[in-house]
Amino acid sequence: MKIKVGPSILACDFANLETEIKRAKDAGADFLHVDVMDGHFVPNITIGPGVVSAVRKKTDLPIHAHLMIEHPEDYIDSFAKSGADIISFHIEALGKSRNARLKKANALIKRIKKLNKRPAIAINPATPLSEIKVLLEKLDWVLVMSVNPGFGGQDFIAAVLDKIFELRNIFDGDIEVDGGINDITGRAVVRKGANILAAGTYLFKSDDMKEAIRRLKNDE
Ligand code: DX5
Ligand code: ZN
Repeated sequence: MKIKVGPSILACDFANLETEIKRAKDAGADFLHVDVMDGHFVPNITIGPGVVSAVRKKTDLPIHAHLMIEHPEDYIDSFAKSGADIISFHIEALGKSRNARLKKANALIKRIKKLNKRPAIAINPATPLSEIKVLLEKLDWVLVMSVNPGFGGQDFIAAVLDKIFELRNIFDGDIEVDGGINDITGRAVVRKGANILAAGTYLFKSDDMKEAIRRLKNDE
């Protein structure tokens, strides 16, 4: 399977955002992974729609807005407007009752599609696949977290390997893995069936991003 790589700009030098975006593109990035955090769903605060609009002006790469926020329904429209192409939201952010979560997820998927964007569902390391199974027929992209969301530079959680394998057995679409991805963990997740790798630290902190992306893509 062809591997796609999305550098996570959380690890870039924000004082030189334009240069960093260009560096990612020149190195062979397939899209940009943009981490949106609200200080509620996760303890950290990062990027809002204004920065996504600014990034949009500087690149033709697809932008994946990874929303790690509560009440994603309140922000979908503004991220769509800011130029995100793929919009993912977390199943864990949709409330306490399972029924309510699924109802909200369905509404979000519909809304994102209506805005002509690609919806994706994100799932934390501790959340079982059963939480999103009934949604899979409505989606073609799942984001499997391999760290607890909130910060870049964390260690890969190997327990998610089984989940990726289990997901690949029942799902034909894109499986992106995010968190602690490097040449070694990248190879491991691809073996289990992932085809998209988001990587922040490994790519932006490398001296030769082109070589780093090449390694992620060849590791099949
Ligand atoms: C974690 C973010 C990740 C993170 C990845 O909350 O969703 O996208 O930026 O960074 P690395 O590759 O450094 O783990
Ligand atoms: Zn992310």
